[in-house]
Amino acid sequence: LSTIRVDVSGVSEGSQLTVKWLGKPVFIRRRLPAEIEDAQSVDVSALADPIARNANLDGAADATDANRSLDADGQWLVMMGVCTHLGCVPLGNAGDFTVEGVGGGWFCPCHGSHYDTAGRIRKGPAPENLPVPPAEFVDETTILLG
Ligand code: FES
Repeated sequence: LSTIRVDVSGVSEGSQLTVKWLGKPVFIRRRLPAEIEDAQSVDVSALADPIARNANLDGAADATDANRSLDADGQWLVMMGVCTHLGCVPLGNAGDFTVEGVGGGWFCPCHGSHYDTAGRIRKGPAPENLPVPPAEFVDETTILLG
């Protein structure tokens, strides 16, 4: 498995970096407090896909926001930018689950799948949450992917 190091020192709150890993886009988003609050307030049992889909956790881990985000504060969200329906690249700061006036949330324009501010599928044909790849902080501003 190939690994890459990503410098995230230039990513400000409320913005997102897209990098390529194994030929696919990976979204690295530094979320604003409102996006985190919105993601944490969701009832996991009501989700279309209640599984975290996080390669860093046990396969049965549930899709709480804490199980989807990278750091203890929940500020960083790292996930594959590949729609789980048929593989299009979802658009950031778009869709019904974007926090009003703040951003976050993703929308796949191919067939209308909406992902929330934790990248969980909430509406549309996609069957699963956007997968979280193997990732960890190796220092304060560097994420190791893979
Ligand atoms: Fe995203 Fe179909 S590929 S909704």
